[in-house]
Amino acid sequence: MKILFIGDIVGSPGRDMVREYLPRLKEKYRPHMVIMNGENAASGKGITEKIYKQFLEWGAQVITMGNHTWDKKDIFEFIDDAKYMIRPANFPKGTPGKGLVFYQLNGTEVAVINLQGRTFLPALDDPFRKVDQLIADAQKRTKIIFLDFHAEATSEKQAMGWYVDGRVSAVVGTHTHTQTADERILPQGTAYITDAGMTGPYDAILGTEREAVLKKFLTSLPVRFEVDKKGRTQLNGILVTIDDKTGFASNMERILINDDHPFFS
Ligand SMILES: [Fe+2]
Ligand SMILES: [Fe+2]
Repeated sequence: MKILFIGDIVGSPGRDMVREYLPRLKEKYRPHMVIMNGENAASGKGITEKIYKQFLEWGAQVITMGNHTWDKKDIFEFIDDAKYMIRPANFPKGTPGKGLVFYQLNGTEVAVINLQGRTFLPALDDPFRKVDQLIADAQKRTKIIFLDFHAEATSEKQAMGWYVDGRVSAVVGTHTHTQTADERILPQGTAYITDAGMTGPYDAILGTEREAVLKKFLTSLPVRFEVDKKGRTQLNGILVTIDDKTGFASNMERILINDDHPFFS
């Protein structure tokens, strides 16, 4: 089975890239399932119900989130009804939403988990202890387990990859908005990449207008960050191939579409 994952979709430039390229990616790679990170989908901060539904209409099966989950107040109105949206599972008990979802795929089930790191990010529950519990829950139903680990520090992401090697099918990092070139299959069969990258503005700084970010670095004064809508755009993601019977990955391929890496169908 092939799973296509699209990295953090930022604002309307990111959504436009998904709308334009998802059909072409589906035609080229024929994925059985599409997972997308939507934590920045609504003007760079959070997601709305309308965008969530649009993503499902465009062909996503599961939407993962991250530290920006709660940025749009709208989220509290619909997260409990959003069957195919998950937020980091290590938010404290009682937080709305869920961090694990099962998707039915012609007789096979795929478990998708979202967790958030704690290094240079708010102190949530321990993602390592939490992943043990979630893997145990998921393994009662399936061997195909996909983990979006939303974290800042490369070391924490690599630690998670090694910690779950052989127990999940893939560990895909998100949050840093910059794709890493370290995709590999770990020795026990888990596909790993530190970060899948970002889908949205290409001539910006992590998706934000670069003038504002530069002003911040040059003056340390408070500035308003907006999604860049003037420059070119990009799409980042990965494609992972998983053995349905064993749940182990056999291949992970990076997807990078921008003017420096054009898409060939
Ligand atoms: Fe993000
Ligand atoms: Fe994030």
